[in-house]
Amino acid sequence: MTIINGYEQSDREEPIDIVDLPSLEGRARKIIPTGAFGYIQGGSEDEWTLRENTAAFDHVQIVPRALTNVEKPSTDTEIFGIPLKTPIMMAPAAAQGLAHLRGEMATAEGMAQVGALMAQSTYSSTTIADTAAAGHGSPQFFQLYMSKDRDFNRSLLDEAMKAGAKAIILTVDSTVGGYREADVVNKFQFPVPMANLARFSEGDGKGKGIMEIYAEAAQKIGPEDVGRIADYTHLPVIVKGIEAPEDALLAIDAGASGVYVSNHGGRQLNGGPASFNVLPEVARAVDGRVPVMFDSGVRRGSHVFKALASGADLVALARPVIYGLALGGAQGAASVIRHLNKELPIDMQLAGTRTIDDVKHAKLIRR
Ligand code: LAC
Repeated sequence: MTIINGYEQSDREEPIDIVDLPSLEGRARKIIPTGAFGYIQGGSEDEWTLRENTAAFDHVQIVPRALTNVEKPSTDTEIFGIPLKTPIMMAPAAAQGLAHLRGEMATAEGMAQVGALMAQSTYSSTTIADTAAAGHGSPQFFQLYMSKDRDFNRSLLDEAMKAGAKAIILTVDSTVGGYREADVVNKFQFPVPMANLARFSEGDGKGKGIMEIYAEAAQKIGPEDVGRIADYTHLPVIVKGIEAPEDALLAIDAGASGVYVSNHGGRQLNGGPASFNVLPEVARAVDGRVPVMFDSGVRRGSHVFKALASGADLVALARPVIYGLALGGAQGAASVIRHLNKELPIDMQLAGTRTIDDVKHAKLIRR
């Protein structure tokens, strides 16, 4: 452990043994300080949506297939022509310095080790440039929380472009923070700064709660923002936080090159459906025009399979990777993806699917 300004940060760097992703939560709880752990692990209100996110996968079944001559399925895939070793990716989670001294730099290094896509958050603990450098040229997307200050938005996008980001993820579901009770109970304020905000007049986020930080960000976000970011960056813009088919269409009409189905890991609108339950209808509305990314609740190889077979092109997760980061730094984060990459091909083989494209066409039973 390293103590910085009174906050105990993990400085572990080692591969970790993983039986399954759900058990990482209890292991990480022992080493991440209480307030930070509550912020990472918690959802909003009574956390019904948070629980539903994972429970929803149990209501859909994969049909086992036989006599298919499949051996050694491949998890190779691509998005926007970018080759990836796995459809599993790191979601753009905030403030990873809460889990590890090297924060997003270690996560980026871990994702590069396993050929997984890394998404950086605006509210990262390390700068866009440093996180990009830690990925050694491995593909990264940059997630934008729009500020009320347009100059600041442009400067963030400039940095992302300079650092070689391959796409911009615009989060649109967080114009206000969900009511997160753990943060209220723990009176949680970020003990470590958010590196990208440091140049911003409002400060670097340190000593503030997430509600205050969201309050300083843009509240009014509309379709015109999507087009403006696409025109400015000439990068694909993926709109994150889509749960309704009509919003997916709105995003595409506004110039989005991707739709990201997510309920923010059950951290925003509690009482909303599991993200997995809305994925099929959003994917049907998108109808293959742009790629679909997905997150919220993914803990198993079979969850990844079911999401791909329900219309997702890439499947993201965050909390388990952050726990792996706390437990083992870059190597710990890589271990988490490696573990899912072990479960997924087993499911692929038993379902008679050789490629990720086959998985996307696999039959599921919904009841
Ligand atoms: C959160 C944001 C910052 O969920 O993504 O806390």
